[in-house]
Amino acid sequence: MNFNRLARHYDWLEALTAGGRLQRARTHWLDALAGRRRILSVGEGHGRFAAACLARFPEAELTCVEASPAMLAVAQERTRGMPGRVRWECRDALAEQPDQSYDAIVTCFFLDCFAPDELAAVVRQLAAGATEDAVWLVTDFNVPPRGLARWRARAVHALMYAFFRVVTKLPARELTPPDAELERQGFLLAGRHDTEWGLLRADVWERRRGAKKLRRPVAGPPEALS
Ligand SMILES: C[S@@+](CC[C@H](N)C(=O)[O-])C[C@H]1O[C@@H](n2cnc3c(N)ncnc32)[C@H](O)[C@@H]1O
Repeated sequence: MNFNRLARHYDWLEALTAGGRLQRARTHWLDALAGRRRILSVGEGHGRFAAACLARFPEAELTCVEASPAMLAVAQERTRGMPGRVRWECRDALAEQPDQSYDAIVTCFFLDCFAPDELAAVVRQLAAGATEDAVWLVTDFNVPPRGLARWRARAVHALMYAFFRVVTKLPARELTPPDAELERQGFLLAGRHDTEWGLLRADVWERRRGAKKLRRPVAGPPEALS
């Protein structure tokens, strides 16, 4: 897939189609990164997560991996002059193992780019670069299990995946939830926040041994992490 063609249009497309909703989802669990020293954001894109993260945690080391040079340039422009340490890596995040251990991984609208047969390998590879007590913030689109919300989400997804397939050669045809593979890699769901009739999902997954698994989605701050 190649996001270069979209890079200069990403901001206005997002503003036009979603207003501030995607950014609210990206940053919903930002406070769960408090105290984390090495944060890895994969498929960072146009830098909206990075900007929020640097503003909130200037003392952390943030590494942003992004395959598209044009997207990365937009992200660098956005965060220029901000406080904090950020390392930009323009590369395929899946071509090699992360070169150090990260105590936080962030994927915003990244895992939903992959088809089922690739997704498990993507999650495995990134999890291999996470410490034993890492947190993983996952923000993605979602398909609710039933009802009108499900049909609405399916219609939105059909349009969205068709658009991205044509413009970026996105391999995925539909959404594959990463939950099962995250659990196989030792992560437990510590907080879930669904919005927009279940179309948007912001999760915080935690690898700490003995982490409490929540039965139902929670909408408040991540108490399970305290
Ligand atoms: C749908 S966009 C999401 C961008 C941003 N994270 C956001 O929240 O909107 C997916 C991003 O992942 C990047 N990407 C896709 N595959 C990648 C890979 N294998 N390694 C690094 N970046 C990748 C794309 O270039 C694109 O910028």
